[in-house]
Amino acid sequence: MRRDIVHEGATNLKYEIREIVGVAREVRGLGQPVTWENIGDPIEKGEVLAPWIRDILHELLDQPRSFGYCDTAGVPDTRAFLADLVNQREGGAQITPEDLLFFNGVGDAVARVYGFLKREARILGPSPAYSTHSSAEGAHSGYSHVTYDLDPHNGWMPNVDDIRNKVKYNDAIAGILLLSPDNPTGAVYPREVLDEIVKIAREHDLFIIADEIYAHITYPGQPHLHLSQWVQDVPGIAMRGISKEYPWPGARCGWIEIINRRRDANFATYAESLLAAKRLEVCSTTLPQMSIPRVFGDPRYKDHLARRAGIFAARAEEAVRAFDGCDAVIVNKPGGAFYLTVMFKDGVLNGGQTLPIENPAVRDRIGELVKNVSVDKRFVYYLMGATGIVVVPLSGFQCVHDGFRVTLLESDDEKRAWIFRTLREAVDQYTGG
Ligand SMILES: Cc1ncc(COP(=O)(O)O)c(C=O)c1O
Repeated sequence: MRRDIVHEGATNLKYEIREIVGVAREVRGLGQPVTWENIGDPIEKGEVLAPWIRDILHELLDQPRSFGYCDTAGVPDTRAFLADLVNQREGGAQITPEDLLFFNGVGDAVARVYGFLKREARILGPSPAYSTHSSAEGAHSGYSHVTYDLDPHNGWMPNVDDIRNKVKYNDAIAGILLLSPDNPTGAVYPREVLDEIVKIAREHDLFIIADEIYAHITYPGQPHLHLSQWVQDVPGIAMRGISKEYPWPGARCGWIEIINRRRDANFATYAESLLAAKRLEVCSTTLPQMSIPRVFGDPRYKDHLARRAGIFAARAEEAVRAFDGCDAVIVNKPGGAFYLTVMFKDGVLNGGQTLPIENPAVRDRIGELVKNVSVDKRFVYYLMGATGIVVVPLSGFQCVHDGFRVTLLESDDEKRAWIFRTLREAVDQYTGG
């Protein structure tokens, strides 16, 4: 008989953000129009790439080299340009172009970074967790992802004592992951918190992974810090990309910045294995990489980022206001990215709550679907059936709290106002508030 061919970690591959799409399509097929609030794709939600960025891409289309392979690690000019940017940051660690490695998006980088760690080496990540990290780490190790708490009663800040304890009592932990601005909470971590995390990492000889995909969507007044500026002498990997900030998610273009590589021989060997692995697949997308020095280096880029951060900050305000005075939930105002997490207070949800669904076929199907699901997924399914709004349950982010994540991406002002108002009404009606 053939050997079992299923990887030990296969059951850890969950991506609720996309899995909910299958259910939503079914509900739509039964006659309920849907509003997609599940995925962080600004283009899907109506944002149009700035004309000057499109012009740059048009110019690149006229260059024959745009269509070829590039160096395995990435386009040399682009890596040199980005290394310079890192080196110009105030008080930051210095890197060389060799410390930059391109991938087909941060999602691809995540798969490699966890995939090429020694099987027994674990990365401690936040809960709620962004599924790409938690699934990749869990799948790689064959166990569920090891997590520390983000505290909803403290603006979703990392619980540093929890990190310290987990690290102290689990010597398999080799690194700490953090996302700032965070997905799904939108929290941005102040320097004090980052310093505490570095201190723990240094004491226990760990390395740090910082997902910085939203680093340039930090709202006015929030700290704007890159890993290279706060990691001090600890080895680290920052993950960056253009999906969210151009925004061009379909480019599948992201990179890692390897910091303090030469301070730690074991870390250096691991970093080298990432490049060796990349060689096997030749290279990542060329044209998007070629666009980076032209776009990031354009005098209009700074304003572009500031304008978008301002827009999302205003929408965050609008979303939080929609939940004013709502006793059933805890809503922390995000400081960056483009998500809002609405958490139900403990004990508010139960397995008997419903929302009225007019369409009988949808009502019957939702009635079927809510059997044996978590209480927040039950809310999410009823919300979908009753209003068509598709959000992601917090339990899908490896989280012990109930709730859901909605995006701040809807670019039609009226539609966005309807979304937030309808969510509030649904929460009130569902919880009897
Ligand atoms: C925190 C975080 N990291 C990475 C990604 C994926 O980025 P990319 O499009 O570069 O693969 C996302 C996408 O939503 C994300 O939210």
